[in-house]
Amino acid sequence: MLAKPTVAAIIVAAGRGRRAGGDVPKQWQQIAGKTVLEQTLARFQTHPRVDEIVLVVAREDLGWVETMGLESQATIAIGGSDRVASVLSGLVSTQADHVLIHDAARCCCPAEVIDRVLDALDHHLGAAPALPVTDALWTGAADLVTGVQDRAGLFAAQTPQGFHRDAIVKAHRANDQPAADDVEIARRAGLDVAIVQGDAGNLKITTPEDFARAAKQLETPLDIRTGNGFDVHRFGDGDHVMLCGVKVPHARGLQGHSDADVGMHTVTDAIYGALCRGDIGQHFPPSDPQWKGAESHIFLAHACALAREMGFEITHMDCTLICEFPKIGPVAHPMRARMADVMGLDIDRVSVKATTSERLGFTGRGEGIAALATVTLIKGTTA
Ligand code: CTP
Ligand code: MG
Repeated sequence: MLAKPTVAAIIVAAGRGRRAGGDVPKQWQQIAGKTVLEQTLARFQTHPRVDEIVLVVAREDLGWVETMGLESQATIAIGGSDRVASVLSGLVSTQADHVLIHDAARCCCPAEVIDRVLDALDHHLGAAPALPVTDALWTGAADLVTGVQDRAGLFAAQTPQGFHRDAIVKAHRANDQPAADDVEIARRAGLDVAIVQGDAGNLKITTPEDFARAAKQLETPLDIRTGNGFDVHRFGDGDHVMLCGVKVPHARGLQGHSDADVGMHTVTDAIYGALCRGDIGQHFPPSDPQWKGAESHIFLAHACALAREMGFEITHMDCTLICEFPKIGPVAHPMRARMADVMGLDIDRVSVKATTSERLGFTGRGEGIAALATVTLIKGTTA
């Protein structure tokens, strides 16, 4: 079997962005919490079929590269006075079999477009995304329509434009004229270029209005959630209890399948609740012997990891332990510290407090400990 071809993404970011305006070139401007370039890089860094990234920047922009720590994320090449020169500089900086030449200014490129280009390279020396033109086309001069143009067979070109590297390097070396993109250069050299389906969302930031259009696609709507948890464990024999990850000496122990840390369990359940992902018993069934005697931080860490996987940031946790004894006040701080550690949170966002139930009910009679928790999870930004 032939080895899988290696793939390099060449991101051209050496332009001055004159039409987009702003104090700095468009690729260094902010969009949805990052620079345009970082948004674009993320599209390729997270794509499983891209092995290497070459970033082409203007020499005068090397300061940005350093401030943003981009050398560790990409091979850096220096761009030229036009796009063609910048692409060639990127092309000679990689040995990959296939290259995806992409405008830094297209920061919303969907993974499926990248996939379609790469798939087509199995059968063609070049492939590029495009959309059939749907608007009527005119020619015009001095604000007057001077004629109409048939749109049949016309396509609006996008990037990434993919090529077998040797073929496109040869085409660039043979080229001595300006070109709008690499398909134009490939065609001049006689290469066949397959058209794959582009995406309306794969827009290029060109004018100031394009920032808002692109931001709309990149920003996730604000999603704030609260989850609550409740748990009870019964006292049995023992000489300590585990509460919020801290071993507290006590004349009795708490009974349970795991270490019976009622505080950690209730916080874990609150997180699953906020995520609408069931409860602790579904993720760690008591019937499963592997969780017998398990330390409860395993459960809590799992819930926190799931929250992050789903794109949520945990911003706050508040846990109330209900018991007459042991006294929680003296150990509340180490409990907060331990919970903060397991949850990856700042201690200022973690609260552990306690109340008695005035000697009423099962907690009042000292038959067990109950715990309540509320957590707050956030993802997205306000548009
Ligand atoms: N580009 C480049 N080197 C150049 C010119 C352009 O790497 N000498 C890159 C741009 O950074 C951009 C892409 O090519 O990501 C597409 O070009 P364009 O949208 O025209 O960007 P700019 O040239 O920066 O913008 P303008 O033409 O408005 O000045
Ligand atoms: Mg330009």
